[in-house]
Amino acid sequence: MIDPWNISNVDHENIMDQFGIRRFSDVVDSIKDPNLLMRRGILFGHRDFNLVQERINKNKDFICITGMMPSGKMHIGHKMVVDQVKWYFKHKGNIFISIADMEAYSTRGKSFDEGKKIAINEYLSNYLALGLDLTHKNVNVYLQSESMPLNDLSFKLSKKVNISQMKAIYGFKSTTNIAHLYTPLIQVADILLPQTEDFCSPMPTIVPVGIDQDPHIRLTRDIAIRFKDEFGFTSPGSTYHRFITSLTNEKMSSSKPKTAIFLNDSSNVAEKKVKTAKTGGRESLKEQKELGGCPDKCVVYELLLYHLIPSDKELEKVYDECRNGTLLCGECKQMTSNKIKNFLEDLAIKRDESFEIAENIF
Ligand code: TRP
Ligand code: SF4
Repeated sequence: MIDPWNISNVDHENIMDQFGIRRFSDVVDSIKDPNLLMRRGILFGHRDFNLVQERINKNKDFICITGMMPSGKMHIGHKMVVDQVKWYFKHKGNIFISIADMEAYSTRGKSFDEGKKIAINEYLSNYLALGLDLTHKNVNVYLQSESMPLNDLSFKLSKKVNISQMKAIYGFKSTTNIAHLYTPLIQVADILLPQTEDFCSPMPTIVPVGIDQDPHIRLTRDIAIRFKDEFGFTSPGSTYHRFITSLTNEKMSSSKPKTAIFLNDSSNVAEKKVKTAKTGGRESLKEQKELGGCPDKCVVYELLLYHLIPSDKELEKVYDECRNGTLLCGECKQMTSNKIKNFLEDLAIKRDESFEIAENIF
């Protein structure tokens, strides 16, 4: 069982086999211009990605839907979703972004007012700063609590789900409150709303998520089939990305400041976090020079891999030099903290520039 609101370390291979998720490596070679996350195996799984890929190859539009719960700060792990959405946007995707304030209310105790503030200050402004044009006609951002069509659809869809199914998927107990119990239905509606007549009508859909969200994807695909006659839904596809390891080796979390680099961190704070992060280096310099480091177990390397070195060649050089002991952790951390500093300083400027736009989205 996967609990989307309380995820701990998961074994991807095991889950893929258990729930029938396909390997992304099977489709990656047929993508003309795979993005960094695709090329580097950070996207490891998918369901029906090929349906969207066919549309992309024919230069036709499709739907890409994502959502975020406005419950805390946006960290560098969240950037991965933005990077993917940007790629789909470039390929003519109709982009939908749900601000899951109803989910934040029922599972994290955030009021709608708080949710809205967090959405603007943390998420929308960073999305804009990261280069996603939220005002474009192909991009639709909304608050769950303010969308009547969403709540209407969600209520209709809930007619064909019963408590046993919700228990089987989420492990809900008889003490689970009804708002929490209902929350997945809102997310199902988030994913299917774009396929209704008032929006894009039925067409292939992709939802880029972490594996923790797979229960919602399974439920949505099930419900899409049950309502096929009424709405003509195409079952939504999904991709699954690896989570970046936290700086302290537990799960990166918005509520634990030391575990993550936040997009609103000052460059000095971020620099300190990199400098004290756990690496894949050896006990002593001598040992590292002899045996080399372990980039595959290194959080600093992950930052480079996921976010900070766009060139594959340059990244490979770091990998090789770490492995053969010519690059040492001190130097590597210095280079990484310079990169993160530049990235965050640039982002802060862009965030300030786009703040007014963020405030006027809703
Ligand atoms: N449940 C997601 C989270 O915890 C947020 C979300 C809401 C979402 N609606 C969505 C994600 C639709 C993907 C698609 O972050
Ligand atoms: Fe990590 Fe860099 Fe040290 Fe290698 S040299 S273990 S990549 S910090």
